[in-house]
Amino acid sequence: MKKLFIKTYGCQMNVYDSARMADLLAPLGYGPTDVPEDADMVILNTCHIREKAAEKIYSELGRLKKVKDARQRGGGSMMIAVAGCVAQAEGAEILARQSAVDLVVGPQSYHRLPEMIARLARGAGHALETDFPAEAKFDALPENSAGVGPAAFLTVQEGCDKFCSFCVVPYTRGSEFSRPVAHVVAEAEDLVAKGAREITLLGQNVNAYRGPGPDGEVWSLARLIGALAQIAGLQRLRYMTSHPRDMSDDLIAAHRDIGLLMPYLHLPVQSGSDSILQAMNRQHAAGDYLRLVERFRSARPDIALSSDFIVGFPGETDKDFEATMSLVRDVGYAQAFSFKYSARPGTPAAAASKQIPEDVKDARLQALQALLSAQQDAFNAACAGRILPVLFEKPGRREGQAVGRTPYLQPVHVDGAASLIGRIVDVRIEAALANSLKGALTLPVEKVLVH
Ligand code: 5AD
Ligand code: SF4
Repeated sequence: MKKLFIKTYGCQMNVYDSARMADLLAPLGYGPTDVPEDADMVILNTCHIREKAAEKIYSELGRLKKVKDARQRGGGSMMIAVAGCVAQAEGAEILARQSAVDLVVGPQSYHRLPEMIARLARGAGHALETDFPAEAKFDALPENSAGVGPAAFLTVQEGCDKFCSFCVVPYTRGSEFSRPVAHVVAEAEDLVAKGAREITLLGQNVNAYRGPGPDGEVWSLARLIGALAQIAGLQRLRYMTSHPRDMSDDLIAAHRDIGLLMPYLHLPVQSGSDSILQAMNRQHAAGDYLRLVERFRSARPDIALSSDFIVGFPGETDKDFEATMSLVRDVGYAQAFSFKYSARPGTPAAAASKQIPEDVKDARLQALQALLSAQQDAFNAACAGRILPVLFEKPGRREGQAVGRTPYLQPVHVDGAASLIGRIVDVRIEAALANSLKGALTLPVEKVLVH
C-alpha cells in the first residue's frame, strides 16, 4: 500500500476536494497517512484568498523538498503535487521555482490526477493541468469512499460571477457552474447510505445555484433542498456560502417550511458602509442586507447569523468603519469571521490608490473582533440551561466523550456519549466555554440506545 498525505488549506470546498482526491487515488493503491515523512505522495491543496498565500506554499515546499531528498537518499521516492487555488493562480511558475514539485493541478482539473500520475510514471516529466476543462469534473469523480462521517459536505455549485473587487475566486475557480439535480440527489443518497445524517451543500456562491432538474426546468437551491429533504435517513441540511444579492424568496421560505434545514445562515456582508460596499462591487447596500436579515428572522425567529467582514479596504475611513460596527450591533451575530484587507494580485482593488496603513487595519480588526466575540459569547451563554438536539460527530479528547453540534452549529462536548456518534440526541447545555458548549445527556445512554 502506498501512502498519501494531503494538507488542506482554506475553505470547506477544499476540504471536499481533498476528500475526493483521496477517493480518486485509492484505486491506484494510495491509503492515507498523517505523516509527510512516510508519504509516497504529498498533495498541498492550497488557498489563495488572503495574505501571502503563495509565499507560504513556497516555504512549505522548501520543507517538503528536504523530506523528499531524505527519502530518495534512503532509496525511496516521493511525489509532490500542488493543487487548489494557488496552483491555478501560479501555474507553471511553481514548477519553475521549486524543482521538487512533480504535479500542479487546478481546482477544476484534479479529476485528471490519475492520468497525470501515470504520465509521470512513464517518465514524461512534470505535469501541469490548470485548464477549465469542458468536460464536467464531477462526472469524472468516483463515488465517495465508505468512510464518510455523520456530517458530510457535498459541493453543488462552483465558481463565482460576482467579481467583488478584492477577491481572487472568480479567477481561480472560474465562472458559476451548478451540478445537475439528479447528480446531487444521487450523491446525497450515497452519503446517507454510508452514514451521513447531516449534509452541508457547498458552493462559492451556493444560493446562485441554478441546476438542470429532471423535469427539464432550472431548479433553485430552495427547490433542491426540498428534494433532498425527502431522502430517508437524512436529518439535517445546511448550505454555504451565500451572497445577499442572490437571496430569493423561496430560500427564505424554506427556512420556515423545511424542518431539516438548520436555523443557521452564513451570509457575508463584508462592510456596513455603502460607499465601501460600492467600491467592493458588492451590488447591495447595508440597508438591503438588514432587510434580508429581518426577513430571515420573520421566517425562522431563532436563526443564527454568521458573516465575513473585511476591514481596511482601500479608502475606508473611520466613519466607514463605524458603519460596519453599527451594522454588527444591529444584526447581532452568533459567530463571524473578520479579516484585514489584503491586496490580491490581479484584482481591481489591489491597484486602488488609498491603501490603508497596517496599524490602522490592526486597530480596526481588534475592535471588530472584540465586538463579534462579545456577541458570540452572549449567543452561547443564552443557550446555557436549554435542551438542544445535538448530532454527535466524533470522539472528544477525554475517554468516553463525544463532540457534536447544535442546530446553530455550536460544538458541544458531552461526557459518556461516545457510543452515540452518528445520532441526534437531546443534550442539556450546562455551560458556554470559549468556543464551544459543555452539555450532558438528558437520559442515561442505555435508554438513548434502545430508542
Ligand atoms: N482580503 C481580505 N479578505 C478577503 N476575503 C476575500 N478576499 C479577501 C481579501 N483580498 C474574505 C472575504 C470572503 C472570505 C472568504 O475571505 O471576507 O468572504
Ligand atoms: Fe469572492 Fe465576492 Fe464571489 Fe464571494 S461573491 S467568491 S467574495 S467575488
